[in-house]
Amino acid sequence: MSAPHAEDATRRDFLYIATGAAGAVAAVGVGTVLVSQMGPNAAERAAGAPVEIDISAIEEGQVIVAVWRGKPYFIRHLTDEEVAAAQSAEESGFSDFEAADVRLGAPADGKEGKWTIVAANCTHLGCIPTKVDTGFEGWFCPCHGSKFDVTGRVIKGPAPTNLPLPPYNFASDTTLVIGADKAGA
Ligand code: FES
Repeated sequence: MSAPHAEDATRRDFLYIATGAAGAVAAVGVGTVLVSQMGPNAAERAAGAPVEIDISAIEEGQVIVAVWRGKPYFIRHLTDEEVAAAQSAEESGFSDFEAADVRLGAPADGKEGKWTIVAANCTHLGCIPTKVDTGFEGWFCPCHGSKFDVTGRVIKGPAPTNLPLPPYNFASDTTLVIGADKAGA
């Protein structure tokens, strides 16, 4: 396995979605793809209302950044290689081990979990890690060198814990809801 570098991060793989009015779209950077963030108005978002995200345009290997409660969250569509690497990883390689199945989401029961939905702030001091593509290692934090696998599990500190999972559910094969779990909590 080759060591990841910050330069490995491929900015083109990040899709930035709107944090403004419902249904609005926006993008930054070169080569980004426009996708919509649907859901509540600004006041409702500030109060923590769930947000709906159209994930239909997120191809395997890509990550978008969505905003909920004013904080960024990664939504990563894993490749089959990345899922296999996460599933087969040894527990001893993690300082805050959780099973890959716990970390991965699927649009419906019975479907393979191929989605990572995690907070986009490093659990050390809050920097935003950059995406890397080694198959297993998924993010590198440029501030102090922490590394996370493709499910957001910390594999090298100083980050003390995994990237947190928000409450979320899939309203359909193409719509992710952040801010409410399957019970609607
Ligand atoms: S903020 Fe990420 S390693 Fe320090």
